[in-house]
Amino acid sequence: MAVVIVQGASRGLGLQFCKVLASRADVAKVIATSRRAENEATLHSMQSQFPNKMVLINVDVTKENNIKQVVPKIMEESTGKIDLLLNCSAILHPSGKGETSLRDVSFEGLRTTFETNTIGPVLTAKYFSPLLLKSSGLFGKQAGKKHSGILVNLTAKVSSISDNQVGGWYSYRLSKSALNMATKNLSIELGRGKSKVICVALHPGTVDTDLSRPYHKGVPADKLFSTEKSVNYLMSIIDKLSVEDTGKCLAWDGNAIPF
Ligand SMILES: NC(=O)c1ccc[n+]([C@@H]2O[C@H](COP(=O)([O-])OP(=O)(O)OC[C@H]3O[C@@H](n4cnc5c(N)ncnc54)[C@H](OP(=O)(O)O)[C@@H]3O)[C@@H](O)[C@H]2O)c1
Repeated sequence: MAVVIVQGASRGLGLQFCKVLASRADVAKVIATSRRAENEATLHSMQSQFPNKMVLINVDVTKENNIKQVVPKIMEESTGKIDLLLNCSAILHPSGKGETSLRDVSFEGLRTTFETNTIGPVLTAKYFSPLLLKSSGLFGKQAGKKHSGILVNLTAKVSSISDNQVGGWYSYRLSKSALNMATKNLSIELGRGKSKVICVALHPGTVDTDLSRPYHKGVPADKLFSTEKSVNYLMSIIDKLSVEDTGKCLAWDGNAIPF
């Protein structure tokens, strides 16, 4: 039975991942974390719906000590292994809107966005990868055969350097491009040994969540996904991953996004 950590579980895509994973018969435990996971009403009602399955833990990924402190609790809840780690936490920018030009760029905006979107997932990988290495590989195409756990960093198509046609969104674009590099690095380091963690960056499409809300007006209705639709697409990719995919950046439709 699988154990999953959803980092950034209190809203949006993370919350929907929790709903889908908690209702799966092959998942024994969903560890839901975010700064406010323990206070989130929807997560609490899921706890009542799936008794003994949902564990809620407050974690701020911008604070290394905070991540380190929750490791013993997660070790206990996960019985020493994690089969899937989903890093969903991110911000577009502390102001809620991406920079349209250089004049909007600030040290503080860049720093805060990097802390949440890049440094947070890397530190989460640092503390939880030993548990991913212990997985017997319950997700993915060759489940239980060639790999151990799966680490997913949620990225965005705007992270692609070669696909950048319009500029802007400095903090978010830079932080997600760096996250893609981190994913590639992790795939190398965690793929060297006998036990191999599959590490991928996944783009969920443009999804109806708080993060993208200021930009929904300009998106055609059929291009603005519900969290349900996006997570269904992403779970079908995750369920088909193999060691050959490690290090890749893939969109919701399974197509590779160029770096
Ligand atoms: N929505 C889109 O259109 C879209 C498009 C491309 C990529 N993505 C990516 O998909 C992922 C999920 O986005 P979303 O749209 O679901 O965002 P969202 O609805 O704004 O949710 C973001 C989550 O991150 C958590 N979080 C933020 N800062 C945190 C911190 N310092 N420590 C711990 N948790 C933190 C939030 O919880 P708390 O506030 O409780 O901490 C929340 O659960 C992100 O990586 C995003 O970049 C989204």
